[in-house]
Amino acid sequence: MEKFVIKGGKPLLGEVTISGAKNAAVAILPATILADGPCILENVPSISDVSITLQIMSDMGAKIRNINKTTIEIDTTHLMQVPIAYDLARKMRASSYFLGTLLGRFKKACVPMPGGCNLGDRPLDQHIKAFDALGADCKIEHGMIEVHAEKLTASHIYFDKVTVGATINAMFAAVKAEGLTIIENAAKEPHIVDVANFLNSMGADIMGAGTDVIKVRGVEKLYGANYAIIPDQIEAGTFMVAAAATRGNVLIKNVIPKHLDPITLKLEKIGAKVVINDDSIRVIGSDCYEKTSVKTMPHPGFPTDMQPQMTTLLTLANGTSIVTESIFDNRFRYVDELRRMGADILVDGKVAVVQGVEYLTGAPVKATDLRAGAAVMIAGLIARGTTEIEDIYHIERGYENMVEKLRSIGADITKKIYSDVSVQEAL
Ligand code: EPZ
Repeated sequence: MEKFVIKGGKPLLGEVTISGAKNAAVAILPATILADGPCILENVPSISDVSITLQIMSDMGAKIRNINKTTIEIDTTHLMQVPIAYDLARKMRASSYFLGTLLGRFKKACVPMPGGCNLGDRPLDQHIKAFDALGADCKIEHGMIEVHAEKLTASHIYFDKVTVGATINAMFAAVKAEGLTIIENAAKEPHIVDVANFLNSMGADIMGAGTDVIKVRGVEKLYGANYAIIPDQIEAGTFMVAAAATRGNVLIKNVIPKHLDPITLKLEKIGAKVVINDDSIRVIGSDCYEKTSVKTMPHPGFPTDMQPQMTTLLTLANGTSIVTESIFDNRFRYVDELRRMGADILVDGKVAVVQGVEYLTGAPVKATDLRAGAAVMIAGLIARGTTEIEDIYHIERGYENMVEKLRSIGADITKKIYSDVSVQEAL
């Protein structure tokens, strides 16, 4: 078993560089399936969701070459239609992107139902609505989703709710659909724009990404392209909150400050100091924080993927804060772990009432999902005493070299590997 062991109470001080965006990378990698030729992708984060995606693509016959630590070449020219390993696909939500890309290339796809963080109900009805509108038949049998189209034809798709995954999958299927597809009520996250920019660099004709109406004019062919993935908005936000929570002073490099606006504004509102530069952002903590209310919304609102981290910071704010999770049904499972450390939080459905306490204390806790893992890490950094975090595989799905990065800015954190007979320090 592997754990992170954190001795809390030390301010984070120094500089940290953000990696490529997980939620862009896990869509852009499968998007290379649509290209007739090799693609070179830069700023690819070294995280387990990327490794799983590359394993699935390699099993299909994609030729993958590591050019350096963060740059890879992918050639899908000789891709085969082979079954995707069920146990790999169910490890992450992003395996759903093989539906749109394989449908766009081969006019058919058969993909295991995706998995990923347990955040409550996560249906795929809007993905299926988009595929159906473009002329594909969809069925779910034996844990597999099958989509098939004689021909993909442009359509006017109106999503019933804002969904990142279905917006991306609709683009994947529409880029080769004859005619002009209009996607309404589209998601506007930075990674939506990044995926659209990558597809356009391959020769697609997509307009309006980043707004709630995306237009896609289908093309005959897409070509290999070179592309650099954007920095990870949520990793950057996680370090911003960690710097504020530990009352530290951290320069966070390789960011797009505009993507961080909702987090910057919330941190400034409660009393942290944020200095914005061209491609970096400095967060300076304060000795005390004011209560506030946070409501997660689709971009450009406060990101749901930052909700657990922000709630953790608010456990030490003065007064009572209110956190409303409007995207997922059950994204407060980590609160039980924070309560073990002395947090005073009441959860009622999609609302958490956070009563500020004087301090947290270290305890044995679990990472219940990716961002919940980030939350208990931040809690461990600010708690009195030692925190041991189990199930750290959740964290390693989406954060590259988290232990090294935290140690480089002063955190007392080690990764320990526990076997039946011994304990080793991995880092
Ligand atoms: C993506 O998940 C991200 N994952 C999530 O990040 C992120 O929290 C989420 O977008 C929202 O920003 C990846 O990009 C791999 P959605 P996704 O479709 O696409 C409902 C992280 O921590 N919905 O925007 O699955 C859904 O249940 C992860 O990095 C439908 O009802 O999210 C949810 O309530 C966690 N029907 C809401 O929409 C559908 O067909 C938003 O989901 C699809 C979604």
